[in-house]
Amino acid sequence: MVDSGDLLYSAGYDIFGLAKKDQDITALKADLFFETYNLMKYDAFTPGEVDLSWGIPELKKMSKKARFAFLLTNLREVKTKKPVFQPYLIKEMGGIRVGLFGLLSNRFSGSLHPLDKEAFQLTDPMEAAGQVIDELKQKRVKVIIAVAHMEESEQKKLAEAFREIYFVVSGHTRSLKRQPMKIRNAQILTAGTRGEYVGQMDFSLKEKPDETRLLSHYRIIDLKDLWGEHPQAAKRVNQFRADAKPLYFAEKKSPDEGKDPWTQNRAYAYPIPKFVGDQSCISCHQPQHENWKKTGHAKAFQTLVRDKRESDHTCLPCHTTGFGEVSGFADVLENVQCESCHGPRRGHPDDSKKGPAVAEKQCLVCHSPAKSPNFDYAPYLAKVRCPASR
Ligand code: HEC
Ligand code: HEC
Ligand code: HEC
Ligand code: HEC
Repeated sequence: MVDSGDLLYSAGYDIFGLAKKDQDITALKADLFFETYNLMKYDAFTPGEVDLSWGIPELKKMSKKARFAFLLTNLREVKTKKPVFQPYLIKEMGGIRVGLFGLLSNRFSGSLHPLDKEAFQLTDPMEAAGQVIDELKQKRVKVIIAVAHMEESEQKKLAEAFREIYFVVSGHTRSLKRQPMKIRNAQILTAGTRGEYVGQMDFSLKEKPDETRLLSHYRIIDLKDLWGEHPQAAKRVNQFRADAKPLYFAEKKSPDEGKDPWTQNRAYAYPIPKFVGDQSCISCHQPQHENWKKTGHAKAFQTLVRDKRESDHTCLPCHTTGFGEVSGFADVLENVQCESCHGPRRGHPDDSKKGPAVAEKQCLVCHSPAKSPNFDYAPYLAKVRCPASR
């Protein structure tokens, strides 16, 4: 069981709120993740740039809770050149000696927290892979697996360069691929996001004097359909919800409040207030507001309340507006409001800027294949589009 990173989101998507509260909630969530991962007997976790943006000292502290390896070969201390986390892991599986190692692309901007940049460095992943593969071969490992948090193009390059790698577990790429992508000797496995799926790879080795052949079978398991709740995990999740709830509804403080330089220098800062909320649109766009009120979008938050999930990080991004952004949800923006489709509107109409034209890709952020399997743009749009102004 491996996780290929970008686990410790402080907010919904790529935009990270500075609010202290978001960080506190994510810290609670980190505990939840690591404790439930322990229950699931995870073997390894390879941090992504989002995880590193917490700051390496913080991440190291968090890693103490985990009874599995933080696996990353190419994050080094500048002074000693030593890896910060465990560079590789050797595990006997069904009689086969398997070696795993973790890589993180050095191309993402903002990977290292500004305060980490002097002491730590992400070295060239290809070079680091070469070194660790040599080491694994010396240790008589038969099957090598790279957990690679990087762009797909970099994963392909890795598979091209090292015929010793049998599997590349893809991180960062976010897509769901039901079939492995075969590159040279390797199969690249991409199993979606948000813990909705698990990719299961079964393999065996046929060893002949002149060659070794790998036999393998891959499948994507949709967790939603197959599994019920694990009682201990469910209890832990409920505890998280109870702990997080007061934080969600805590009074909003100024984003740059707090003197802690770690907090102020979060790599994914996004401190501009932008959302104003549906109430402020009524006076000028009443017909559109009335129409919106009748759509499911206007009761998306109520749906979560009904299911007692209104303080759940995994649901909120799609059932609210501007989740995780400063002045997004957590102030007032329950439901999928006007600004989910028309963009944040602070300043409108005085600034006489036009909002973005509503397009399918905005819908797809929430209407993902997993959450909205029947999504079809034209008929869906017909149900929710606003009437023209008179
Ligand atoms: C004080 C009146 C006023 C308020 C309040 C107001 N609007 Fe508008 N809005 C206008 C006017 C006037 C136009 C037409 C401007 C034009 O012709 O492009 C407009 C145009 C629009 C348009 C079409 C053009 C574009 O910019 O995309 C959208 C969408 C829109 N408003 C959304 C909103 C939303 C969402 C809110 C609430 C967050 C809102 N408006 C609040 C006056 C207002
Ligand atoms: C911020 C996330 C988000 C965005 C963006 C979004 N939706 Fe939705 N949509 C939802 C959620 C959540 C529901 C379910 C609401 C509920 O709880 O009933 C939903 C429900 C719907 C429904 C069924 C409810 C109804 O009133 O018939 C339609 C149709 C729909 N969306 C169309 C669209 C289209 C078209 C777009 C893009 C123009 C879009 N949505 C953008 C989250 C979103
Ligand atoms: C990736 C975005 C996304 C996330 C995350 C998400 N939802 Fe939704 N949810 C949707 C969309 C979109 C729909 C509407 C689907 C459609 O009608 O095609 C929906 C519909 C629903 C509905 C059906 C609404 C109704 O009554 O008709 C429920 C219930 C629901 N979501 C609950 C949840 C819960 C609970 C969570 C957290 C575990 C969650 N959702 C997380 C996007 C999301
Ligand atoms: C699910 C997405 C969605 C949501 C939510 C939504 N709209 Fe719209 N709205 C549209 C679409 C689609 C159009 C048609 C114009 C276009 O394609 O850009 C539109 C058009 C408009 C227009 C321009 C009408 C014209 O004459 O051109 C206004 C104003 C507007 N919406 C205001 C609002 C307000 C106010 C809300 C919230 C109360 C809201 N919209 C919520 C999708 C949405």
